[in-house]
Amino acid sequence: MKVDLYERIWMIGVGIMLAVMFSVMAYAGLGRGETPPSHIETINPSAVLSDARFRQTGVSADGSGHLHVTVLGATFAWLPQTITLPARTPITFHITSVDVVHGFEIVRTNGQTMVIPGYVSQFTTTFAPGEYMIACNEYCGVGHHLMFSKLTVVPAAAWQAPTAIFARRTQTALGAGGEHAHN
Ligand code: CUA
Repeated sequence: MKVDLYERIWMIGVGIMLAVMFSVMAYAGLGRGETPPSHIETINPSAVLSDARFRQTGVSADGSGHLHVTVLGATFAWLPQTITLPARTPITFHITSVDVVHGFEIVRTNGQTMVIPGYVSQFTTTFAPGEYMIACNEYCGVGHHLMFSKLTVVPAAAWQAPTAIFARRTQTALGAGGEHAHN
């Protein structure tokens, strides 16, 4: 079969691009353990309130001093209702839902994730000082527009460290691969 020179160049070029993109995906997924969205940590959605990881919501610190925020999504509120954090400090959020799918969005920041029953969504980010609204950006029912809470970010020097100790993450069969993405 005769293939025109220019067509052959385009075919080879596209082939190279596909090979590069698949290699990047394979490296990210298999080599670096990156899994969308955030990491794979599971939770029994009907037993969230008795799960040690979510017994206490709000700000806590782990043994190394790293800060964590534990958040529960429920129709129609984020718990806790107010969060105060230090500026320019890495914070790891752990969020799950007790009922339906919600969308956790700290407005005007990159702190955003879907919150799906059965999974613990996680991301780590930093904030500039200010007041931020935390909205729900996935329609979850008649009270969807009422589902918001408030984040206040103060200069690190003016911030009071939490006394709460971060609850150790328990592993589930599916979640065993997610822990390496945790720090
Ligand atoms: Cu929760 Cu919309």
